[in-house]
Amino acid sequence: MIKPHGSDTLNPRYVRNDTERAALLKEAQGLPGLVICSAAAANAVMLGSGYFNPLTGYMNLADALGAAEKMTLPSGLFWPVPIMNVVRAEQVTDEIRQAKRIALRDPNVEGNPVLAVMDVEAIEEISDAQMTTFVEHTFRTHDKEHPGVAAFTSVGNVALSGPIQVLNFSYFAQDFPGTFRTAWQIRDEITEQGWEKVVAFQTRNPMHRAHEELCKMAKQAAGADGILIHMLLGKLKKGDIPADVRDAAIRKMVELYFPPHTVSVTGYGFDMLYAGPREAVLHAVFRQNCGCTHLIVGRDHAGVGKYYGPFDAQAVFDDIPDGALRIEIFRADHTAWSKKLDKIVMMRDHPDHKPEDYLFLSGTKVRDMLAAGEALPEEFARPEVAAILARHYQGE
Ligand code: ADX
Repeated sequence: MIKPHGSDTLNPRYVRNDTERAALLKEAQGLPGLVICSAAAANAVMLGSGYFNPLTGYMNLADALGAAEKMTLPSGLFWPVPIMNVVRAEQVTDEIRQAKRIALRDPNVEGNPVLAVMDVEAIEEISDAQMTTFVEHTFRTHDKEHPGVAAFTSVGNVALSGPIQVLNFSYFAQDFPGTFRTAWQIRDEITEQGWEKVVAFQTRNPMHRAHEELCKMAKQAAGADGILIHMLLGKLKKGDIPADVRDAAIRKMVELYFPPHTVSVTGYGFDMLYAGPREAVLHAVFRQNCGCTHLIVGRDHAGVGKYYGPFDAQAVFDDIPDGALRIEIFRADHTAWSKKLDKIVMMRDHPDHKPEDYLFLSGTKVRDMLAAGEALPEEFARPEVAAILARHYQGE
């Protein structure tokens, strides 16, 4: 199986031994506690799950700036996005400042239970100039209207760094028991299935026929044995479809329209960054960590609004050093229904087609149709998938 990023074996930060975990939880109850922000909690879940291998915890300022500016940490490790625990100055009490170890409490679960224990190695203030560097490199904009920039810049300006030990997977394990998976669970499943090559499909949306076909095309092109549909289960911007609805729609599509035992429907616990190209590279890192050999990167991958060009998230892979990643990228062109050929095609394969030869529906149009109880065209969406989405939009 493909090796994880940066090490020969996966070293998740979740404490897997029950006795050790119980002892750690007991210790945590006596440590100074800090309710962290949702992004930092999602980072802890990703570190715990092994997706952020070989990182051991939150980056200090030098590492985080290296990730943002050069996609490389001072140690030489390739890493495309700062992984930080940023808090407000007033949260850093004298007790926290003097502590060697602190309990990180979960902002997303009632009662703020302890999510992880951290060895505090540094507490550093982030200057305004450094904050600008972070967002301009990570998001390619400092516009506060960008949901990722808004989230990054609104949680404070003090970075707490150091290794963590993770106690649980926040709300993801409870809310999505059939779908949430750690990186090692996916590796185990790939081994059980006997798959050599696996294509990963990142998604934060329900899947329509273009996405279904994209997965099938990528599997064929890569000569893969299986497809890992790997959906984001964390926070999204307003208007995006909630994970439980997406999950149901995707499972129905897989059940009805894919050959059995060729697809694994799974999810990971992370908040969407909407960082386009940089998030695509992060996606590649953590799909390698869960054992996939290929990642599909299509049109406007992890994008939002007009901040990124439609294929910027593919072009960014030309800038990464040779050998930095083992996973390969399947670069997909815009995929849509051809009215001429009566099937979904990749547009680059049909230079003779004019725009009117394709069926295009904007996200807004799809939402409006579903909310109004209108059927989506069968060329666009599988009817069983559309029915699940229609129930959501009609508030059932
Ligand atoms: S994402 O933010 O998680 O990337 P989404 O779920 O919409 O969003 O897309 C999942 C993947 O499918 C991404 O790689 C995206 O580029 C690709 N994709 C979505 N729609 C199309 C399309 N019509 N043509 C080509 N690629 C597409």
